[in-house]
Amino acid sequence: QKVDLGGEATVATINHSLALLQRLQELLQNGNVSDATLRVRTAGSDEVKVFHAHQLLLSLQSEVFESLLHNQSTLTLHEAPDSAALFEKFIRYLYCGEISILLHQAIPLHRLASKYRISSLQKGVAEYMKNHLAGESSQGHVVGWYHYAVKIGDEALQESCLQFLAWNLSAVMASTEWASVSVELLLLLLERSDLVLQSELELYTAVEMGLPPPARAVVEKMLRSVRYPMISPSHLFHLQKQSPVMVKHYRAVQDLLFQAFQFHSASPIHFAKYFDVNCSMFLPRNYLSASWGSQWVINNPARDDRSTSFQTQLGPSNHDTAKRVTWNVLFSPRWLPVSLRPVYSDSVSGAIQSIRIEDGRPRLVITPAMTSSDFAGVSFQKTILVGVRQQGKVFIKHAYSFHQSTDELADFLIHADLQKRTSEYLIDNSLHLHIIIKPVYHSLIKVKK
Ligand SMILES: *[C@@H]1O[C@H](CO)[C@@H](O)[C@H](O)[C@H]1NC(C)=O
Ligand SMILES: *[C@@H]1O[C@H](CO)[C@@H](O)[C@H](O)[C@H]1NC(C)=O
Ligand SMILES: *[C@@H]1O[C@H](CO)[C@@H](O)[C@H](O)[C@H]1NC(C)=O
Ligand SMILES: *[C@@H]1O[C@H](CO)[C@@H](O)[C@H](O)[C@H]1NC(C)=O
Ligand SMILES: *[C@@H]1O[C@H](CO)[C@@H](O)[C@H](O)[C@H]1NC(C)=O
Repeated sequence: QKVDLGGEATVATINHSLALLQRLQELLQNGNVSDATLRVRTAGSDEVKVFHAHQLLLSLQSEVFESLLHNQSTLTLHEAPDSAALFEKFIRYLYCGEISILLHQAIPLHRLASKYRISSLQKGVAEYMKNHLAGESSQGHVVGWYHYAVKIGDEALQESCLQFLAWNLSAVMASTEWASVSVELLLLLLERSDLVLQSELELYTAVEMGLPPPARAVVEKMLRSVRYPMISPSHLFHLQKQSPVMVKHYRAVQDLLFQAFQFHSASPIHFAKYFDVNCSMFLPRNYLSASWGSQWVINNPARDDRSTSFQTQLGPSNHDTAKRVTWNVLFSPRWLPVSLRPVYSDSVSGAIQSIRIEDGRPRLVITPAMTSSDFAGVSFQKTILVGVRQQGKVFIKHAYSFHQSTDELADFLIHADLQKRTSEYLIDNSLHLHIIIKPVYHSLIKVKK
C-alpha cells in the first residue's frame, strides 16, 4: 500500500518558539515549580533580592551555576551595587536569551557574565562596547571601558578604545572623563603619533590640567613625551616661565626645551648637521589647527570631480612657519586606474568597449601649487581624516595617510558607498574631510624607506 506523502510542497512548520520563550519568562516571573532560590546581596547594604529560579535553566547556561547548585538549592550571591541592580535583567537573559543594554550598564553586565561564565553574553557585551564607543553619554564612558578592558585582559576592546581616544582626543580632553584617565593610559596616548587634536600646545595644557599627583618620575616621563619642537618658540617660552608643572620639573625637560629652541632658530637642514637627533619629537601628530591643513566638506561627493586649494606653513620650525605652501587637491569619486580604463578599439572606429564605471573608486590627490628649493630635505606626509555621524555626533571614522595620492592605499573610502544617500560616511549628503599636511624633515627623522 502506497502512502502519498504529498511531496515536499505540503511540509509546513508550526512555529511557536516565541510563545515558548514567553512561557519561560513567565516561569521566572511567577516562580512556578522553582527548585532554586537565588538571594542576591548588594555589597555595602542590607538589600537582598530573591529570585525563584530553575536549576535546569541556570545549569544549561552557566557551569558556575551548575556547580554551585550541585549540593544546595539556595544560593546567596554577593554582587556590587551596579551589578545587583542588573541582576533581574541578567537572569531574564538566561531564560530567554535577550537583553537590552544601556551605555552605563555595559561594565556591570559584562562583570556578571564573566563571573557566571556566560560566554555568549560576555562576547555580546564586548561587541556592544566596540560598536558604541561614540555613544552619547554626559560624562563619557570610553576611558572607563578602556580601564575595564585592561582589567579583564580584552586586548581587542583595549585597542578599539585607544583608537577612539586617539582620534577624538580634543573632545575627550574637554570632557569630565579626562580626569579619570589613568597614568598608564595617558602615557600610552602620549606615545602615539595619530592623536587628533588642535595642537601640541593643547596636549601640553591637557596633560598639565589632567595630571593627577603621581610620582615625580611619572610626571617627568609625561613631560618628556610632549613634542616641544611642534610648539612655537613664543609659546615654549611662555610654558618655560609660566607653567607651574614646567617650573617645578624644569630640570627633567631642560634638554628637550633647549633642543626645541635650537630647532626653531636654524633651518632644519642646518640644525641636523650639528645634532644627531633621531626621535619622534620631530614627528607631527594630527593637528587640526589651520597652519597644518584644512577642512573640506564635499556636498554630493558621488557626482563629479572636485578640487580645492589651501595654504599651510612650510614646516613647524620657526625658520619655516612664515613660508607658505599652497596645495591643490583633487577628489574623484570614480577614478579608474589605467589598467581598467575603457579601451578604444580601432576595428569599431573609436567605439568604447564596456566602460566599467562601477570599477572606479574614490581617489584624492594632493600636490603643491609650486615647486620650491625650500622643499629640499622636507617631504610632506598627508593625512585625511573622514568624519562620520554616529548617534548624532560627528567623530572620526578613518584616517588615511599617504604621500601624494590615495592610489598608494588599497582601501581609501573602499566601504564608503558614496552613491548611497544612506552611506554612513555622509553627513547631510556631504563628505566631511580634514586634510593635514605633515612636513617631515628627512635629515631629522631617518625613517625606513
Ligand atoms: C520561528 O519564528 C521565530 C519568530 O517569529 C523566528 O525567528 C524563527 O526563525 C522561526 N523558526 C523557524 C524554524 O522558522
Ligand atoms: C504559575 O503560577 C501562577 C500564580 O501562582 C498561576 O496563576 C499560573 O497558572 C502558573 N502557571 C503555570 C504554567 O503553572
Ligand atoms: C556544597 O559543596 C561545597 C564544596 O563542594 C561546600 O563548600 C559547601 O559548603 C556545600 N554546601 C552545602 C549546603 O552543603
Ligand atoms: C632612528 O631610530 C629608529 C628607531 O628608534 C632606528 O630604527 C633607526 O636605526 C635610527 N636611525 C638612525 C640613523 O639612527
Ligand atoms: C569625536 O570627535 C569629533 C571631532 O573630532 C567630535 O565632534 C565628537 O564629539 C567626538 N565624539 C565623542 C564621542 O567624543
